[in-house]
Amino acid sequence: MHPDQTEEIVALDRKVMAKMAATWSDRVAVRKERLDLSQYYDPSIPDFPLEIIPFGADPEFRAILDEQGDQSRLRFLAATWIAYNERVIFIEDDVVQPFCALLRKNLLPGVNDDLVQQVIVQSQVDEQFHTLMCLEVCSSARARHRLNDYVLPPPLLGKRIREQLATTDDVFEHALILMSYATISETTIHDYLRKLSTITSIQPLNRIHTEMHRRDEAAHGTIFLEIARSVYRNLDAARERALLSFFTKALHDSVEIDMSFWSSTLPYLDTRDWRPFIERVGRDLSRRRVGRDYGALLQLLDDLGVRDKVDFSFS
Ligand SMILES: [Fe+2]
Ligand SMILES: [Fe+2]
Repeated sequence: MHPDQTEEIVALDRKVMAKMAATWSDRVAVRKERLDLSQYYDPSIPDFPLEIIPFGADPEFRAILDEQGDQSRLRFLAATWIAYNERVIFIEDDVVQPFCALLRKNLLPGVNDDLVQQVIVQSQVDEQFHTLMCLEVCSSARARHRLNDYVLPPPLLGKRIREQLATTDDVFEHALILMSYATISETTIHDYLRKLSTITSIQPLNRIHTEMHRRDEAAHGTIFLEIARSVYRNLDAARERALLSFFTKALHDSVEIDMSFWSSTLPYLDTRDWRPFIERVGRDLSRRRVGRDYGALLQLLDDLGVRDKVDFSFS
């Protein structure tokens, strides 16, 4: 039900939130010792793994890669590491933090509670620190590999969010749209970070950085599911339908492979005209999707009894 209409309830697992609040100081990256970015760097080890690049195994790409010297290969992978972290910063700054700000102002129902607000602010501190961590590893890689001129292209996900926001003038619906993207991101990002943090062929420092972030995000996954549950329980039937439709669209947007992002670092590998390659690979990849672990999200959809109302293939 809408908060204007009936009294709001906080419909989440308080024990989970109380545990998150109480363990925050001992658990989170911002309270741990800082990573020393000047140390433990081996210039012969890549910053980023080829296997995470969507066209990393493409035969044409592999042939071009094999023609290059070690320096070009390492510089290209360092640029891709920067791109990856800059994209994480985009998610923190443009998706998760704005959603947290809405929750702080009680612009969505179900979170008007001291304990819940404490956990939201703790999460904001975490996310701000993740932005700082990512910014610092980017600066370090930029300096080591002469990559100060690399600029992340506008993320495709940002365009998709703006498109969806433009479909309505209703401020409350805007909040539900942001909630959809932020909830998907917060409940699946730790799996994405786990993939990178467990690949042993990259700089150990990069793995440690990613693992520190992953640990925080594992907790955020739980927290933001509880928040989504409480918001949903406070919506009326029309708002519920609106949220599920925004959420379905957001799921489809979140599995699109962003070719302009992945191709943006190719000029550091070689100065050739990459356009024919990007067009061909872009066509191939448009039929594939980003793999994500939806286990926790599915649990929530089942708890709320709405899985069949979401038109998306979770497998
Ligand atoms: Fe984060
Ligand atoms: Fe997070």
